[in-house]
Parts: sequence; C-alpha cells; structure tokens
Amino acid sequence: MKTLILAGGKGTRLWPLSRELMPKQFIRIFDDTSLFQKTIERALLFSKPKEIFIVTNKEYRFRVFDELRDMGIEIPKENVLLEPIGKNTLPAIYWGLKTIHENFGKSKVAVLPSDHLIDINEKYIKAFKTAEKLAENYFVTFGIKPTKPHTGYGYIKPGEKLEGGYKVAEFKEKPDLETAKKYVEEGYYWNSGMFMFDTELFIEEVKRLAPEIYNAFEEAKSIEEAYELVPDISVDYGIMEKTDKAAVVPLNVYWNDLGSFDAIYDAFEKDENGNAVKIRGLKADYIGIDSKNNLIMTERLTATVGVKDLIIIDTGDALLVAHRGESQKVKEVYKKLKEKG
Ligand code: GDD
Ligand code: MG
Repeated sequence: MKTLILAGGKGTRLWPLSRELMPKQFIRIFDDTSLFQKTIERALLFSKPKEIFIVTNKEYRFRVFDELRDMGIEIPKENVLLEPIGKNTLPAIYWGLKTIHENFGKSKVAVLPSDHLIDINEKYIKAFKTAEKLAENYFVTFGIKPTKPHTGYGYIKPGEKLEGGYKVAEFKEKPDLETAKKYVEEGYYWNSGMFMFDTELFIEEVKRLAPEIYNAFEEAKSIEEAYELVPDISVDYGIMEKTDKAAVVPLNVYWNDLGSFDAIYDAFEKDENGNAVKIRGLKADYIGIDSKNNLIMTERLTATVGVKDLIIIDTGDALLVAHRGESQKVKEVYKKLKEKG
C-alpha cells in the first residue's frame, strides 16, 4: 500500500497557534511531535519511506524536510510535491495519485490528512486492510460515529452491505445544522477525511466528473500552469458527493479533527476543575482561582479568577481570548489580520 499525505492546509481557526508559515499540521500541540509527524508514523504502518508521498505548499518545503530529518526518516525528495498555490484537496490528491501511478503503476493509496489526532490500535489497522481490498472496486472512505451535529464534516449514509463495510447511499459535505441533526438521528457516519483509492479508478473518475482537472494536467507544460488552470475544489464536493462507486468502512477508534480550539479542549486531559492547561517554557505557569472548564495554553505566568468556559491562548506575541463554543469564528480574526496586511 502507498500513502499520500495532504499537508497544504492553513488551519486558520487555530490562530495564534497557527501562523502563515506555521499551519496546524506543524504545531506541537500535545507533545514533541507535530501532527504532521504523527501522520508520518501512521503512514509507516503500511508503507515504506519510498512509498510515502506528500503534497504540500511550496512555502512549507523546508519545514517538511526539517520535520522528516528530525524523525530520521528518509523520504525521497521527488516524493514531496510542492504546490505553487493551494487549490484545495482534489487537485492535490489528483496530482499525488497521478505521480504514484506513473512511478509504481496501478496502486492502492491511503490518503491521509495531516491535521488529525487518532488512536492507533488493531481496529485501525484492520479497517485499512479491509479498505485496501474494497478499493479494487470502490472509492473508500472511513466512517466515524458522530457525537454531535457538527457542520464542518462530511456525512455518509450507509447503504447495501459489503465485506467489512457498506456502499455509500449518500455523501453530503458540510450540511447545515438542521440537516446535520437529522443525519445524526438517522445513523449517518462522519467522513473521517481519510480515503483509500486505486490510482487507475481515481484517475478515470476525475476524467469523468472533473474533466477540467484531468485536462489541465494533460495540457499544461508545467505544474505552475496546471495549478493556474485547475478549479479550487475539495475531493468531497468534486468526487465523493458525485460518484456512485463509494464505500464506507466504519472506523471505531478515537478520532479528532482538531479543527478548532473547542476540539483541542475535547482532546486534552482536564484537571479536577475541568480546566485543560498546556504551559510551554520554563517561566510559564498557570494559577486558577474559582476557574472552571477553561482551555489555557500559555507561554508565561498566567492566572484566571472566577472565569469559566474560556479559551485563552497566549503565544508570547499574541493573545486570544474566546468563549468555548465560539472558536469556529477564530478564522475571522485571521481574515481581518490579512486585510490589515
Ligand atoms: N496539499 C494541500 N493543498 N493540502 C491541503 C489543501 C491544499 O490546497 N487544502 C487542505 N489541505 C489538507 C489539510 O492540511 C488537511 O490535512 C486536509 O487537506 C483536509 O483539509 P481540511 O481543510 O482540513 O478539510 P476539512 O477538515 O474542512 O474537511 C475534510 O475533513 C473532514 C474531517 O476532518 C473533509 O474531507 C470532510 O468531509 C471531513 O469530514
Ligand atoms: Mg480538517
């Protein structure tokens, strides 16, 4: 099995932890390994270093190579594909799978986002083995049991039973809240964002459902030109919602997209007052008086008195204070900052 890692996203909802040149996949949120490095570790479960491909933005190239060096992993330089501009996941996956197809011929490829926290155990490994078999005939997704009607995910209605999974009866990317509630009640899965694709099937399906992308790569003389031509579209809207050949393999392991500070609060351990505290640096500490259920990430001495359900992120040069439950809106801060230049 080959692996394609997507590492070109920005993670704007995690400002000020994530910055222009330090998107979320490279941040050390939990320990000394970044989410990108954790993804490489997952890739190594099924692929040799030379079978691992990474699609990222050219701005992150040094960071990618530094992180690999840090791990002592040698992935061939040619396996790191550098996008001139981000055009979302469909062009990235297409370029990656096309390159793998040209190098190795028809192959099964696990496509992994690099912004997830996942508990690796036997169930995870078994699901990937099952998916590898199903990928001969289907575009395989991994389904997570929803815990709430989250509107930032794709939803999957399981249909006809298959060996180890189901045919996808419906795939709906990022529904509104009302629809998401209905889906959760009706037993839909969340799309985990990880996929298993066969290179040949995928290239054919892109030719059929997103010919602008297929043609751009056929006609362009350079990657820069191809990326000028391709539309900005995710694999979820461009292929998974449209294809009639999708399958879902349920994945019953701890999974967290870490898309926002609320998700990070969920993932951290809490103290007896429900505070999730992460301090960084020798001078940093946290003292909470009558403070409950807060997320505190700080690089200096920080105290709170009588506050609850707050998100306080202090990176030394920037400070974010937000209410828990509102952290999706942090991306608007990022937008405002961009406007200011
Ligand atoms: N190379 C490259 N280029 N990578 C990208 C680009 C790009 O232009 N845009 C995003 N990525 C990477 C991100 O770094 C991340 O690892 C992955 O692709 C997914 O992108 P997100 O932007 O995080 O997608 P999402 O979380 O909104 O939605 C997807 O994941 C959900 C689960 O986490 C969808 O697949 C949803 O259906 C799914 O539920
Ligand atoms: Mg994501």
